[in-house]
Amino acid sequence: MADKPILTTTAGAPVPDNQNSLTAGERGPVLMQDVHLLEKLAHQNRERIPERVVHAKGWGAHGTFTVTNDITKYSRAKVFSDIGKKTDIIARFSTVAGELGAADAERDVRGFSVKFYTEEGNWDLAGNNTPVFFIRDALKFPDFIHTQKRHPKTNLRSPTAMWDFWSLSPESLHQVTILFSDRGIPAAPMFMNGYGSHTYSFINAQNERFWVKFHFKTLQGHRHHTNREAEDIVGKDRESYQRELFGTIDRGDFPQWRLFVQIMRETDADKTPYNPFDLTKVWPHGDYPLIEVGILELNRNADNYFAEIEQLAFSPSNVVPGISHSPDKMLQARVFSYADAHRYRLGTHYEALPVNAPKSGVHTYHKDGAMRFFGSQTGNVDAFYEPNSFGGAVEAPQYREPPLKISGDADRYNHRVGNDDYSQPRALFRLFDAEQRERLFSNIAEAMQGVPVEIVKRQVVHFYRVDPEYGLGVAGKMGLAPEDVQLKAAE
Ligand code: NDP
Ligand code: HEM
Repeated sequence: MADKPILTTTAGAPVPDNQNSLTAGERGPVLMQDVHLLEKLAHQNRERIPERVVHAKGWGAHGTFTVTNDITKYSRAKVFSDIGKKTDIIARFSTVAGELGAADAERDVRGFSVKFYTEEGNWDLAGNNTPVFFIRDALKFPDFIHTQKRHPKTNLRSPTAMWDFWSLSPESLHQVTILFSDRGIPAAPMFMNGYGSHTYSFINAQNERFWVKFHFKTLQGHRHHTNREAEDIVGKDRESYQRELFGTIDRGDFPQWRLFVQIMRETDADKTPYNPFDLTKVWPHGDYPLIEVGILELNRNADNYFAEIEQLAFSPSNVVPGISHSPDKMLQARVFSYADAHRYRLGTHYEALPVNAPKSGVHTYHKDGAMRFFGSQTGNVDAFYEPNSFGGAVEAPQYREPPLKISGDADRYNHRVGNDDYSQPRALFRLFDAEQRERLFSNIAEAMQGVPVEIVKRQVVHFYRVDPEYGLGVAGKMGLAPEDVQLKAAE
């Protein structure tokens, strides 16, 4: 007994009784002055915060990033400065469409986010387990997500909405093909790759810019579930990922990924046959080989899931000297969207929460607001504006990036004109063996059940344009005549 701490109110006063409310007589009503009861009920009413608008269901852990190869000729980021250098990280994996209580083993893209606590601020890589995305213009993101979430009338997920949108947006074909391939239901987070997906930039010590893509390759090997296996798992365990990830780290069996980059010279961006800033495209490995960078390891479970994983806030706006953005218009929208979401979901000072706080220190002139529980961050309490004469924090011109050449007339350019949406899904489809193709056709056909035939035909024609075998394979599973698809594809 003696070594147990004494239970207190939030004001620190000892609580004499945590079993019985304070009542007027044994059978009587509760007294208003039972502050402990009131505090407990009031706190319970405030236990929920808004879930993430997308990627609500997630699993995460702490870990380490270790540099294994010298890439300092491309980036001056301190995180890459020396072979053997270790940086603390935290990672969160997620599904996209399901709510906070969704089952883990559902077919969906998986989020793959890593926060590197570097000595020059936090670098966040909020990517997916796929190298591409469904859309290439952020103006379509709210529409796309509406098709993935619940129908406003039925409150059910709507395959009609999904396939209607996808069939009207052929730029989605590449990602749709990955989603319905074997890799659409990874067995657990350890058994999938992660990709930064966007093109980012590196800047080296000579202030030269390179374009870069990030790839985390699983060292546990790829493992996936078929639809039938996933149904069986979800029927028995809705939390299979949480159980697997937490369990493996708890047992000391730490999952690892090897980080690679693809590098493109700044001036090469005009020379590729595809737009290298288009998020629906990869850079073929044959043209841009993978260059090893380091090892990501997850080795510590969170002590408190809510504080450390639910309140985690990743944002593509969090870059550090030597790593930066690119002209990818999707990336630019994300640079706005995430911090905006965090201010709403977690509050103005979300970056002061321990899990989000940089370990390298913060000096800003932001002031006051809800939950401003920390003092001056400017370097001197009398310096609460800038410029000042009191030794407050100052800008650091040595971190300026080289100027980025941009040109062109401001206009709304039709991104569906002159963009080849078929070649890269074709390259992927041709990697699949006969059994993988067969499963792809069945997975798509199962997901299309109940969708109006006009929408199905419109989508199957896109598959046909990727590869006739692809179109005819799905058509066969949907009971469509081959001529129907061939004729429409020829239109
Ligand atoms: P490569 O033959 O060099 O590489 C094929 C890539 O496909 C590998 O990265 C492999 O990942 C990945 N892959 C295999 N099966 C699947 C699947 N079901 N879903 C998603 N990815 C899968 O190919 P190229 O670079 O010439 O590209 C060909 C096609 O491969 C692309 O059109 C694209 O669809 C896909 N791809 C390309 C990537 C790239 O960055 N170039 C990245 C990922 C996919 P792993 O090595 O881990 O097995
Ligand atoms: C989460 C917006 C595209 C990966 C989120 C959140 C928002 C958002 C608002 C919730 C953030 C939070 O509350 O913490 C957008 C917009 C996009 C877009 C506007 C397109 C313009 C993408 C793409 C990727 C991606 C292309 C992957 C390459 C993720 C991940 C999360 C997430 C992994 C969860 C992060 C976590 O674990 O906390 N997105 N997103 N998103 N998004 Fe996006």
